Amino acid sequence: MTRYYRVLSSIIVFTMMGIGSFVLSKSFAEDEQNRKGQPIKSREQQESKASNNDLAKFMRGKLDASSQILDGLCTEDFRKIISGASKLQELSAAESWRVSTDVMYRQHSAELRGAVKDLLNAASKKNLDGAALAWTRTTLSCIECHKWVRATLISKG
Ligand code: HEC
Repeated sequence: MTRYYRVLSSIIVFTMMGIGSFVLSKSFAEDEQNRKGQPIKSREQQESKASNNDLAKFMRGKLDASSQILDGLCTEDFRKIISGASKLQELSAAESWRVSTDVMYRQHSAELRGAVKDLLNAASKKNLDGAALAWTRTTLSCIECHKWVRATLISKG
């Protein structure tokens, strides 16, 4: 009889431990979600979030292409430079690039496209200095446009 109780009590203890760790892990998971701080949003907000995510993915693509270019410049690998610059050229010609029709925005876009074109030219002539110079113009145009976006588009909401 005591043996029976001992088995029973250990079953109960293990069950409690199981439930306990389940509850704990669930509350941790919820905590994790809360920490990510995603308040419940209206449908409209969620939709605009989706298009923001598309834009973010698109912009990340530019960043990937850019690091390939820098990689190529540092290792004097002109194929890498050309590959990254072509990607950047494609991306900057894409429809989703046109976040704003503002004159300044278009000018920043044109600046970037011009710099990327010079970068491609220099790289295809295996002109490292020319490519490096065009690259600094390219990155400056990234930064200038972002400065403009932050000051203008975002403050407008
Ligand atoms: C003509 C304007 C323009 C130019 C030039 C430009 N961007 Fe952007 N970029 C934007 C806009 C608009 C956003 C989105 C801003 C926002 O709403 O947060 C953005 C956002 C980004 C982001 C943030 C994405 C995220 O995770 O939220 C990255 C990274 C980025 N751009 C990379 C680049 C790089 C690299 C270049 C240059 C090769 C570049 N951009 C050139 C307009 C531009």
